[in-house]
Order: sequence, then structure tokens, then C-alpha cells
Amino acid sequence: MTPENETVNHKAPAVELKGVYKTFLSEAGVAVEALSNINAAVKPGEFVCLIGATGCGKTTLLNIVAGLETADAGQVTLTEGLSYGRGLAYVFQHYTLFPWRSVLRNVTFGLQMRHTNRRKRNKIARQLLNQVGLSRFESSYPHELSGGMRQRTALAQALAMEPKLLLMDEPFGALDDSTRHDLQQMLVNLWRQKHLTVLFVTHNIDEALVMGDRVLVFTERPGRIIRDINIDLPRPRDRLSKKFTDIYLEIRKTISADLE
Ligand SMILES: Nc1ncnc2c1ncn2[C@@H]1O[C@H](COP(=O)(O)OP(=O)(O)O)[C@@H](O)[C@H]1O
Ligand SMILES: [Mg+2]
Repeated sequence: MTPENETVNHKAPAVELKGVYKTFLSEAGVAVEALSNINAAVKPGEFVCLIGATGCGKTTLLNIVAGLETADAGQVTLTEGLSYGRGLAYVFQHYTLFPWRSVLRNVTFGLQMRHTNRRKRNKIARQLLNQVGLSRFESSYPHELSGGMRQRTALAQALAMEPKLLLMDEPFGALDDSTRHDLQQMLVNLWRQKHLTVLFVTHNIDEALVMGDRVLVFTERPGRIIRDINIDLPRPRDRLSKKFTDIYLEIRKTISADLE
């Protein structure tokens, strides 16, 4: 074994979930089992997509990983020192920019909270806005932006915190196909360039296959992982290749069999 392999093999997972359960009580007092016995490990630098139908507990799982929600049972272990705001950034499912702040000041918000001085935070934000293709819009306000531009801003806002682990909850769900494809490509480029670990939730199989190293397929409620698929396809992914469509159909079959 080469020393390089050794380092990789002995690296602790960035995220490890063991026997995670979560039940909510609905307003009517009915117990809703959202997650049941979730076991998964994400390696440092991996791009993992979670896919499953609406209501299967995907958001709940990200919230638990972020520490915003607690599991009823089980263990959640993050690489030493990671927590929300400290090496862990989260792009939420619902649009979360501050409407009263310009694009630039949305991206600098977290740095301002950390008391990074203005010159430095503007420099970091402008670099990121350049990377997400929004340099010309730093003075615009969220309501003046398209959906895709808002998500670019949200991504820059998350990256400004220099995360190692990036959680993303269906961030491109509301975009048209061509904008969505552009953002997927951009995210994959940033993931590589910044050596991020990404946990990306989607209900779109195509999206998971275009970006993920691995895809975890969830069942319907209560969410359990029924498949853990390595996506061993060359990048950039070719949607028209036979292997791509084969895996696509296989996942679709898994999901629809689960729905029946
Ligand atoms: N705070 C909460 N209180 C009550 N029920 C909740 C709460 N959060 C989520 N749920 C329920 O748990 C289930 C999983 O929700 P969620 O994690 O949002 O699923 P997904 O993101 O996969 O659509 C759903 O049935 C949802 O209604
Ligand atoms: Mg959700």
C-alpha cells in the first residue's frame, strides 16, 4: 500500500450517521416518523447526493447533520471541529437572502458577523461573486435577480464562510432546466477547486447523477436509505451515455417500486 492510499484509508469520514431516528409530533398530536435507522458515512472530499420523494425526511436529515435539529436516537459524528458556521455551511431549501441587503452585502453578512474587517470581507465576497458569475450584480437587490442569480448569491454567501462541508437542500429545484444545468456545472467546478465535501439533497435523479460521486436513495416515509450507489462515471457526466441512462432507470425503478 502506498503512503497516499494509507492516508486516504485512515481518514475519518467527514460525516458519519449511525442508527439515526427522528419522529415529529404533528399539530394534531399524531407521531410522524420522519427518519428510521439511517446509517451512512461521507468521506472527506466526496460529493454525495440524497434522493427521495417529498416528505421522506431529507431536510430533517440535513438539519440533524447541521445540528439544527436533534436526533431521537443514534449518533451523528462530524469531522473534528465542524459545526454550523464553523467549517459547515448550509444552503437552505427556501430562499434565504436578506431582501434589504445588496448582493455584495448578502455575501459579506457572515463575515461581518465574524468581525472580519470591511476591506477584507468585500475582497472575499467580490472574488466569490466573480466565481459564481455575478460580478456585475454586486449592487443589485435580491428582488432584482432571477431565480438562478439568487441561488448563485446564496452559494457565494455559503462559500464566504470557507466551509469544508457544504449542505445543500434542493437549491436548484425551482429553476428551469438550462439554468439548473449551468448551476450544477458551476457547483461541481467549485467543489473540485475548493476541495469541499458536499451533501446535496434533490428529488431529481438526473441532477444526482450529473453531480454525485455517490447517490443515497431514500424510501418514502419513514425515510430509510434503500440504496447506496457509487456513480462511477467519468466527469463531466454525459447525460446521453448508455451507462448514465442505465443508472437513471435503475434508480427510477427502485423509487417507483418503493412507491407501489
Ligand atoms: N418540525 C416538524 N414538525 C412536525 N413534522 C415535521 C417537522 N419537520 C418535518 N416534519 C415532517 O417530517 C416528514 C419529513 O419532512 P422533511 O424532512 O421536510 O422531508 P423532505 O425534505 O424529504 O421533503 C414530513 O412528513 C414532515 O411533515
Ligand atoms: Mg425538504
